[in-house]
Amino acid sequence: MPLITNRFDLTILSLHKYKYYAFNQRSKKGALCQKSAFKYPPTDLPEMPPCNFQPEEYKGMSKERMMEIRKLNCNPMTMKVTSYKKPVFVHQGFMQWLWDVDGRRYLDLFAGVATVSVGHCHPKVTAAAEHQLRRLWHTTNIYVYPTLHEYCEKLASHLPDPLKVVYLTNSGSEFFATMGLTSNAAYKYPIANGLGCTNTMCPDVFRGPWGGSHCRDSPVQTIRDCSCAKGQCMAHDQYIGQLKETFVTSVPSRIAAFFGEPIQGVGGAVQYPKNYLKETYKLVRERGGVCIADEVQTGFGRTGTHFWGFQGHDVIPDMVTMAKGIGNGFPMGAVVTTPEIAASFTKGVHFNTFGGNPVACAIASSVLDTIKEDGAQQISLNVGTYLMTQMAELRDKYEIIGDVRGKGLQIGVEMVKDKASRDPLAPEAIAEIFEDIRDMGVLIGKGGVYGQTFRIKPPMCITMEDADYFLAVFNKAIHNYMEKR
Ligand SMILES: Cc1ncc(COP(=O)(O)O)c(C=O)c1O
Repeated sequence: MPLITNRFDLTILSLHKYKYYAFNQRSKKGALCQKSAFKYPPTDLPEMPPCNFQPEEYKGMSKERMMEIRKLNCNPMTMKVTSYKKPVFVHQGFMQWLWDVDGRRYLDLFAGVATVSVGHCHPKVTAAAEHQLRRLWHTTNIYVYPTLHEYCEKLASHLPDPLKVVYLTNSGSEFFATMGLTSNAAYKYPIANGLGCTNTMCPDVFRGPWGGSHCRDSPVQTIRDCSCAKGQCMAHDQYIGQLKETFVTSVPSRIAAFFGEPIQGVGGAVQYPKNYLKETYKLVRERGGVCIADEVQTGFGRTGTHFWGFQGHDVIPDMVTMAKGIGNGFPMGAVVTTPEIAASFTKGVHFNTFGGNPVACAIASSVLDTIKEDGAQQISLNVGTYLMTQMAELRDKYEIIGDVRGKGLQIGVEMVKDKASRDPLAPEAIAEIFEDIRDMGVLIGKGGVYGQTFRIKPPMCITMEDADYFLAVFNKAIHNYMEKR
């Protein structure tokens, strides 16, 4: 049966057939109780916040040799995905900090692609890993061992009923069959793929044909205007209309599943109109489909208001996929589903050598405890909201910052040629700003179908001081670029 998806974002329907409308509605949300980074003129840069961790001195292979090996012995994709013209040669990490092989310190606001959830080498999680490494590295599901059971029970306790059955895995992207789930062409090989998958139109209220001034669940709304009355959302109705069109034109009357991220990750922190996912789940279930929430990036407290992204949409999925932050960087994934769906998978044997590995389970269990003990979800809410409201002020100041959005520490900053056209800022310009930010000691990410969106998703241990430092760096990088162009 076919799957319909909106995982990374866009759709097979062309957005370009629609005329875009741009309005200059400015969001004037008040900042939280915290001094503003804008006390620094964009030409000045404050000191990087202090860190009293002392990294080890790097005595390993030279940078040149690493690059030679990377070109000769690593698969070509390794070079293709390398960030920056002058790559960052990472040596060591501690909490929100990374050090390169030359001993230079960076504020890591990308967390190894939204993966280091509670902090690099978090002492508590590291201790849990060391403890387990000395006791038992590996065994599999053919035996019964405590770490697996402790973890499955703990993870299930973080999910609402009836999501209580846990499958532990390593990673999802190794399977070619999942390729159809992305609607980002850059990830596609030039062969037929995604048989049975249909991508829906991306309900992107900034870049898409419809969107207004209060569509999304974020402290910052778009710069677009709308005349929707309170409780109404024209964008929601239009995008749902497009989904219904997909149902009648592109998929059979009975579908297998709908797959979507609560907030898009690689797609550039795209958020849908409020209630879009709720209505979508209803329509999918009416057609016999199950609803799958991809929480790989939005889970584990990152959105701040809730532990899971789907809770922000007031829906309960039938299946939840998890990875990245689940293990704070240790390779691990999970799927949690209902007993009924799990029973349907017993028709054949599903066995996975490393899924549920004792070390992975001990680490993931400690990650859940640490999120709670460190107040990571609350940090995400406070620091993330502060960052976004301050970034919105920068958006109002600079013509090339089109949109600031997200929830908690899942933030996107979409760069445009100008606010009227909302055309994506050219890749060379994005690269220049990106490199400049790195040169000032901050690592962020990029995303969006045109690579036009900066992505900020740090370990959930960053402080207001770190946020202020980044705001000053970002202000300066944009200022530098505007001065030059
Ligand atoms: C939203 C989302 N889902 C799934 C995956 C696949 O996870 P993995 O790389 O662990 O296979 C990714 C990876 O980037 C992702 O961002």
